[in-house]
This record gives sequence, structure tokens and C-alpha cells, in this order.
Amino acid sequence: MSDSPLTPLCSIISLLFPLLLIVIIFFFRRKHPRLNLPPGRMGWPFIGETIGYLKPYPATTVGDFMEQHIARYGKIYKSKLFGEPAIVSADAGLNRYILQNEGKLFECSYPRSIGGILGKWSMLVLVGDMHRDMRAISLNFLSHARLRTHLLKEVEKHTLLVLSSWKENCTFSAQDEAKKFTFNLMADHIMSLDPGNLETELLKKEYVTFMKGVVSAPLNFPGTAYRRALKSRSTILNFIEVKMEERVKRMEENENLEEDDLLNWVLKHSNLSTEQILDLILSLLFAGHETSSVAIALAIHFLPGSPRAIQQLREEHIKIAKAKKEAGEVELTWEDYKSMEFTHCVVNETLRLGNVVRFLHRKALKDVRYKGYDIPCGWKVLPVVAAVHLDPSLFDQPQHFNPWRWQSNNNGSSTTCIEGSCPSGSSNSTASQIFMPFGGGPRLCAGSELAKVEMAVFIHHLILNFQWDLADETDQAYVYPFVDFPKGLPIKVHRHSLI
Ligand code: HEM
Repeated sequence: MSDSPLTPLCSIISLLFPLLLIVIIFFFRRKHPRLNLPPGRMGWPFIGETIGYLKPYPATTVGDFMEQHIARYGKIYKSKLFGEPAIVSADAGLNRYILQNEGKLFECSYPRSIGGILGKWSMLVLVGDMHRDMRAISLNFLSHARLRTHLLKEVEKHTLLVLSSWKENCTFSAQDEAKKFTFNLMADHIMSLDPGNLETELLKKEYVTFMKGVVSAPLNFPGTAYRRALKSRSTILNFIEVKMEERVKRMEENENLEEDDLLNWVLKHSNLSTEQILDLILSLLFAGHETSSVAIALAIHFLPGSPRAIQQLREEHIKIAKAKKEAGEVELTWEDYKSMEFTHCVVNETLRLGNVVRFLHRKALKDVRYKGYDIPCGWKVLPVVAAVHLDPSLFDQPQHFNPWRWQSNNNGSSTTCIEGSCPSGSSNSTASQIFMPFGGGPRLCAGSELAKVEMAVFIHHLILNFQWDLADETDQAYVYPFVDFPKGLPIKVHRHSLI
């Protein structure tokens, strides 16, 4: 029986094949070294651990999911969230690194549903040059100079309007009142809409439906909150477009546009398309209204638990009000605002403990190595700022409302801490590096200063004119993942006049 001529060839191949495989694996490994991913688990197919991550929890905590994951895997862990592999960070250093490297190593990346509802030109979803241009417009409109000359007055006017409607011994939702205040302020500032006016009220109603969709699951079926919100979105945009057309017509008729609002500003100074202007306005209304109203509601919620803080606020605001009375002044000035030192501590502490914005959405643009861990290119990255603000290794008794930890030594601009309550072992600059309620880096909140002015001015008039009790102690702020009081934070107020 003669051997087939193929037999030696087969033997050579079978000898060479494993060798070839070893060479291929060697070169592949050299090119793609084994990744040292952070520990963690990917959970179920597709949804991963999203359901556990988004399960509601009290706003002054990090929630069970986060707590258990940090205890098990540490402050940096991997997971699968929002349908994508993700790195979750409760690490102050990594969070800062992510935000500072926006556009270089990481990029803003909100779920597609957010773009669907806020619009593709919304600042939250834009990246690159277009984001830079839209941001420049927003910053211009929310500039320090405008805050001093215009916005402070507007904030005070709208605060007094809301507070003057509060009735003695009545119980009502403080959260709704805070929303009324910030909505009226933004609607006035953006489109010169008068509070209480029928069209402003209709817009507000549509906006409530719209907001329910922003926080709901993005299911575009008849009857869902998301579908209703998309409908409200187009009603709101139609409304803004009509306003815009009126202004354009007036401009074409050479009429001087008197209104000092964002709509006029973009029409005169930018070359944005109609669609871009509409999305910009809607996203500013959203960014500027939801966040600061929650922050004010949180301050109203935290303060009754600290009578000493209320007393110190009273002393501070009585002093300011008396000095103004003596000088014959009525409106608050920028100097008054800057002099509210203890109020600034209350504002900081409210933002630290309440964490209006819990985490941000980013993705890695390149393979990144941090503290020995690899973050692969394209992965979702979630810096959880709330976890840093509530970290017991950084803030003493983090669940405790303690405004004194922010005691200021320098016009309220930098933070320091009283003994025993500072972020441990930290200096002023470290405290400000780990405290990021407004995000950071090139996407730092464009309205951060306005938000602080809103909170301080609201507290000024609230403290001077009212004493309030929480009507339902069980109504705590919850994360849904937007912070919200399920029962609306009912309060009972008593009018007083401290000057
Ligand atoms: C307490 C109130 C507020 C909080 C906690 C807050 C928080 C934040 C945070 C964390 C971001 C960064 C989002 C990211 O990086 O992905 C942001 C962005 C932004 N915020 Fe605020 N915000 C507040 C009030 C306001 C107000 C009053 C305005 C005014 C209209 C505003 C306008 C914006 C805008 C335009 C951006 C986008 C900035 C950009 O992408 O460049 N915010 N805010």
C-alpha cells in the first residue's frame, strides 16, 4: 500500500499550525495587551445592571446599588449600564480627570433618548465646535456682568412675587412654589414672558408634561409619558417659533427690539438656524429651571432640621436688611449678595448633601489608563459626583447637614472648613477640587453663578418674612434619577417681619 503524496504535507502543516497560532497570539497580545479592567459585573444581556442602578433611593445617600458595588469592588468599577459597557467612578481624582479631559480623552455622551426629547442641538448632547458656539452664547447671556446689572434684580423681583402669594397658616407644596419661581424667572429672561399671563401658564402646563417624559423610560408608544412629552415638546417649540417670527417681523419693519432677553440676543447676534435657536431655548429652559428649583426645595427641606443655622441666617439677613433700610435702599445689590457669607455656606451644603445632579454621562474617546485600570475606548464612563460629596473619607459625617464646614474666609469664593468637619486632611483647594455640584472642565454649568444667586436671594427673603414647618416629615427627596420630593414637600408657613 503506497503512501499518499499529501501525507508529508499534512504532517508539516499539522506541525506548523500550532506554531503559527502561537506567533499570531504573541503579536496580537503585543498589539492589544490584556486589559486590566476595574472589577465589577456586567449583569444581564443588553440591560446589564441598569435597573438596579436606576432604582429610586433617598437623595442624601448614594443608594444601595452604589454602596454595595463600592463595598465589593472599590470606587472604580465596571458594569453594563444604559445598554453599554461602562466604568462607574466614585473616585474624586478620576471624576476630575474625566471632566478636565473633555474633548481630549472623554466626551459628553447622554443617552439617545435625551437627544430625542431635548433636541439634537441641545447643549447637553452637542460636542465639539457646535457645543463651543452654543456655550459661548449661553455664557454671554449668563455673564457675571449681566448677573450684577440685570439678573440679580430679576431674581429678587420673581422671589418677592412668589413669596407674596404665600398665605398665613396655609399648607402648600414648597417644591411647586420653587418651580414657579425658577420657571417664571427663566421664561422672563429667555422670552420676556410675564408671570401669571395666560400664555406663560399654558407653556408651564406643557412643560410639566414635557418634564415627565424627560424622566420616563424612552418608550415611544401611544399612551406613554415619553410619547406625551414628545407632543408637548412640539407644542412648546411651536410657541417659541411664533414668538420668534413676531420678533423677526418687527426687526424687518425696522422696529427697535426693546426686550433684553435671550431670544432677541440670538436673533441679533448669532447666525443660528431656527431649529438651533428653538433647541437652545428649550434646553436652557430645562437646565435653568429644573435644577435650581430642586436646590431651593432642598434648602427649605434641610433648614428646619438645623435651628442653629436658621438663627445664624436670621442674624446675617437682619443685618443686611437693617443697613439697607438705614441707607434708604430697597433692592439688593451685588455687595449685599457677596456679604451673605453664611448663606453661601448653606447653599454649598445644600448642594453637597442634596446632589441635584448625581452623575454625568461621558464616553472614552481613547484607551485610557488610570490608577492601573484600563478604560477602553468607546466605553461609557459615569463620574458619580454625588458619591464623592457623600464619601465619609472626604466629608466628616457626610449625611449631616452642616453648613459650618464651608465657612468662608474669602468672600465666599473658596471654601474652608471648621475643625472636625472638613474633608479630612484637605486644604481649601482640595475641598474645592472634590466639590463638583456644577460639573467641571469645559462643560462646567453655564448657570452656576445664577443658580447660587437664586438660592441666596430666595433664602434672604424667606428667612426675613417667614417661619416654616415641614407638614409631612416623611416626604424625603428621592432620586428617580432626577431629585424630586414625591409629595411635593408640603410646608406650613407663618409670616413674620424681622426688621
Ligand atoms: C443648582 C442648580 C444647578 C445645578 C446643580 C446645575 C448642574 C449642572 C451640571 C452638573 C452641569 C454639567 C453637565 C455635564 O457636564 O454633563 C450643568 C450644565 C449646564 N447648566 Fe447647570 N446647573 C444648575 C443650574 C443652572 C442654571 C440656573 C442654568 C441657567 C440657564 C444652567 C445652565 C446650564 C447649561 C447651559 C449647561 C450646559 C453647559 C455646557 O454643556 O457647556 N444650570 N449644570
